[in-house]
Amino acid sequence: MQVASEDRLKIEVCFDPADQAGTMADEVRRGLTATQKWLPCKYFYDETGSALFEQITELPEYYLTRTELAILQNIATPLALAHPFEEVVEIGAGSAKKTTTLLDALAAAGSLRRYLPIDVDGTMVLSCGQAMLARYPQLEVSGLVADFQKHLSRVAPARGRRLVIFLGSTFGNLNEEERQRFLAEVRPLLGPTDRFLMGIDLVKDVATLEAAYDDAAGVTAAFNRNILTVLNSALKADFDPAAYRHRAFFNRALDRIEMHLAPATAQHVVLQALDLAITVQANETIFTEISCKYTRATLEHLLAETDFSLTEWHTDPEGKFAVLLAGPR
Ligand code: AVJ
Repeated sequence: MQVASEDRLKIEVCFDPADQAGTMADEVRRGLTATQKWLPCKYFYDETGSALFEQITELPEYYLTRTELAILQNIATPLALAHPFEEVVEIGAGSAKKTTTLLDALAAAGSLRRYLPIDVDGTMVLSCGQAMLARYPQLEVSGLVADFQKHLSRVAPARGRRLVIFLGSTFGNLNEEERQRFLAEVRPLLGPTDRFLMGIDLVKDVATLEAAYDDAAGVTAAFNRNILTVLNSALKADFDPAAYRHRAFFNRALDRIEMHLAPATAQHVVLQALDLAITVQANETIFTEISCKYTRATLEHLLAETDFSLTEWHTDPEGKFAVLLAGPR
């Protein structure tokens, strides 16, 4: 379905909201009736959740966003001069705040012609599309309102050299099976001279990692609890978010931060829309997010398995975060 079409702006929607509601109900039922209760982390991001995440990105402990931006600022111009990319496909575009760093460099180099943002949130696709049209007078925008785990095959065919980008360490939220599938779906978007650019958080000392997910001001705790508020309104549930403690720790065996919610006393919860009642025992946890941390070696291996080869690797001076470039093998 095409919902907006002007000369320079096209937006296509890949799913209908009715399917989405059904999907949420199925996923939440599955998660909350499992032995280890869990919830899909994509449900953090209602309006409040997105605003809390914006606040997280400005916390002193949350080094990820600012470190990624600094790396992008360093590499944008050399990248644009080395590769005359004509279009940029952005997976999980969101507000695309960091993206202008890359687009500015490509526009200055004279190669940029088209921007293709993909996001589940239609308002985000529209507002970031419009912002880009205003910033780059020659640009065409072709947006996709879509789930990047389902609809990547719907990305329009390339019209020239293409850069596919996936920023913000969102790759870290995917489990083993999901990340393999994701890379396999990105790969066909690339022609021989195209590149995939991804921002990745790296394995580092536990204290730094754990502080980033358990900040002193309690913003991450509020972000974590907000997923229960989302379920309360979307599924007519009666969670008491204040009864749950925020737990975030680094699982060394699996190189990932895990976030959980754990009540101090047993909670009886009814989810009317699911016709489901559950008990969360005292100190039992609801697993809400994984955020995997990588090394260059593990990434090179993952990329090779899905027919990519790593072509560039850029980090900040302290080696906290990496922006990598990969191409077809
Ligand atoms: C949006 C996936 C980058 O995993 O660091 C921030 C989400 N969770 N604090 C991350 C998040 C807790 C975040 N990403």
